[in-house]
Amino acid sequence: MKKLTDEAKARLRPRSRLVHLGRDAEASQGFVSVPPFRGSTVLFPDVATLKSRKQRYVYGTHGTPTTEALSEAWTAISGAAGTTLVPSGLAAIVVSLMTALNAGDHLLMCDSAYQPARIFCEATLKRMGVETTYYDPLLGAGIGALMRANTKAVFVESPGSQSLEVQDIPAIAAEAHARGACVVADNTWATPLFFSPHAHGVDMAVEAGTKYLSGHSDLLLGLVSANAQWFPRLAKTVDQMAIPPGPEDVFLALRGLRTMELRLREAERQALALARWLKGRPEVERVIHPALPDDPGHAIWKRDFTGSSGLFSVVLRPASEAAVAAMLDGLELFGMGYSWGGFESLVIPFDCTAYRTATRWAPGGPTLRFTVGLEDIEDLKEDLDRGFARLAAAA
Ligand SMILES: Cc1ncc(COP(=O)(O)O)c(C=O)c1O
Repeated sequence: MKKLTDEAKARLRPRSRLVHLGRDAEASQGFVSVPPFRGSTVLFPDVATLKSRKQRYVYGTHGTPTTEALSEAWTAISGAAGTTLVPSGLAAIVVSLMTALNAGDHLLMCDSAYQPARIFCEATLKRMGVETTYYDPLLGAGIGALMRANTKAVFVESPGSQSLEVQDIPAIAAEAHARGACVVADNTWATPLFFSPHAHGVDMAVEAGTKYLSGHSDLLLGLVSANAQWFPRLAKTVDQMAIPPGPEDVFLALRGLRTMELRLREAERQALALARWLKGRPEVERVIHPALPDDPGHAIWKRDFTGSSGLFSVVLRPASEAAVAAMLDGLELFGMGYSWGGFESLVIPFDCTAYRTATRWAPGGPTLRFTVGLEDIEDLKEDLDRGFARLAAAA
């Protein structure tokens, strides 16, 4: 088998990239996958090499063949200049903001961001002299009116956590760049397979690899890809913080990478089928899924995205907390838990009213977030059907 040249790699379509990038059989003694390199110490053959600072690997915190394999593949599928790896998705948000911001700077953060990211802004960033203003995620080019002379970063998450607002990222990026601010995106829902962040104006794109890259709910990992302008600064920041992910987690993520497209496409198909079924249920007021034609975010989703993942939300018709608990507590296939993107279906009740500050979230009924896994869709419907019967009985 001929070794892939850089030109040949660049020609590959996304599916082939997932299979062939980030591995080198020659360097792995002929084995297909790169093993999990474990280690702190890296030995140097002589004083000259040690002093030259040119050896490829120098210390465990600065990268291994395993971390490089995943970074290389992720960079290629993201259309980025480089990727850094950290131990969780939240850590990826943290390092991207630490890269973009200095004391005295101002950050614009979408009101729909993953809530723990808000806590980091309100506690640590504030302590370090960075002020955060939350903005309506649907502002689009209107973001310009909120920008100050010291606004150095605009954070987007599209679709937003739980409420799934789709943002006009190109319009936001144009305004941010015109005023010298960096655009950071949490791209976890779409992954680079369904939304090309850097082609749409994002400077640094965060992925919680914990979700679809892992695909099996058995690891935590964060990735930040960056364009050529931001990658050197990102790489330096992460290197200085010395927070590498564990080698087994990176190894498992590389394994997940090989099947990510298949799993995502299946999650998309299953989620759409379940979303359409839920839309027809009398207990459901509204289904929030950007790929459904009547969703408020559909037009922008259709323009910018190439697929939808397995995560969506629903608003139920008004029901008591006890009735919703009776519905959820008795489910046999849908687990209840905060992470998502694995092979198994999940549902959680959520309520954004408690922490949104720039927008008012008033759905008009209890809200549920679904993650659709790989079970037979008819089994999932039957599980929910019995759940709706419990909801009605407890009303
Ligand atoms: C949109 C989004 N971003 C980031 C994260 C954080 O990922 P992790 O759990 O790996 O810290 C999550 C986790 O649920 C998430 O939903």
